[in-house]
Amino acid sequence: MRLKIAVLAGDGIGPEVTHEATQILRAVAELGGHDFTFTSGLIGGVAITAHDTPLPQATLNLALESDAVLLGAVGDNKFNALPPDKRPESGLLQIRQALGGFANLRPSLAFKALATSSPLRPEVTADVDILFVRELLGGLYFGQPRWWNKDTGEAINTMRYTKSEVVRVARVAFELASKRRKKVTSVDKANVLEVSQLWRATVTEVAKDYPDVTLEHQLVDSMAMHLMNIPRNFDVVLTENLFGDILSDESGVITGSLGMLPSATIGGAVNLYEPVHGSAPDIAGTGKANPLGAILTAAMILRHSANLETDAKAIETAVHKVLDAGYRTPDIAQTGSTSQIVTTPQMGKLVHQALVESIDRRQSMHAV
Ligand code: IPM
Ligand code: MG
Repeated sequence: MRLKIAVLAGDGIGPEVTHEATQILRAVAELGGHDFTFTSGLIGGVAITAHDTPLPQATLNLALESDAVLLGAVGDNKFNALPPDKRPESGLLQIRQALGGFANLRPSLAFKALATSSPLRPEVTADVDILFVRELLGGLYFGQPRWWNKDTGEAINTMRYTKSEVVRVARVAFELASKRRKKVTSVDKANVLEVSQLWRATVTEVAKDYPDVTLEHQLVDSMAMHLMNIPRNFDVVLTENLFGDILSDESGVITGSLGMLPSATIGGAVNLYEPVHGSAPDIAGTGKANPLGAILTAAMILRHSANLETDAKAIETAVHKVLDAGYRTPDIAQTGSTSQIVTTPQMGKLVHQALVESIDRRQSMHAV
């Protein structure tokens, strides 16, 4: 299997966590005899510093000619005074648009070993397995007009969706739900917004093609509450762009840390893979970053861009093993427990070891 991966590490902890993720992918390639290549490109604040733009043409070209793009994180407080279209984040929005992936998959799992890392009671988070399907190319992030008139003190952003944009992302949600627990929860604000009424009507129509999948609608405000009260009730959660951004961060509380969450964006020319967390400038370079979100993102690359489901599962199992053995980065450390605090590279190496052991075992089982 050949796979050309563009690595856009970005800002803050981005380089540290993508390094660990690519080490894991290298191990999979070596153990399985695959040919994975990694080429790095600049995006975000580091690209502004080097080339005066958050998404240089060379980075875009590299991404477009790759089989998958692994992105670390963008964002640097140094650029806070710039308008949105000049900031590091705009590099991310531009590359999302250029690659064309409209369905952002954000799994949110409760890890048994982390049951007490979450401020929620263990009986609330036990067995939670939610898959957010966040629409990624529409809504307030991209709608026109958008401006801020500093003289008149007025600003505008536009939430806009077309029916076909809703149909295509809804289909992804229903397809995925039909292979899971067969339930889609669609999130909107249909009691206030016309866009949400279009969203709800369209999702209801798409649901007719999936008679074995149950559809429920939730208003975004009560969804934010239910997610903390009864997270186990949810299977696939379908949202527009901004609602999904907000709810997926909230769901980090279920796992115990935002640093644990991976994501994959599918449906475009090239899939884009990013951990859900940001650049965390406060801990950049300290070895405190949790690389597991990025490592689980690497598993999603194997699943969605390489059809290597067994290897994807092997990475996920290795992460479980390391957590079960009590190793923790500071964000998931439990007070008063016997867990052992490790640095970003140590965590990466532990997952690597666990992975090698499990793949070795698999191969020796085949040999028998
Ligand atoms: C995310 C991030 C981005 C978003 C930012 C960095 C533009 O918060 O991927 O969730 O809002 O989509
Ligand atoms: Mg976000």
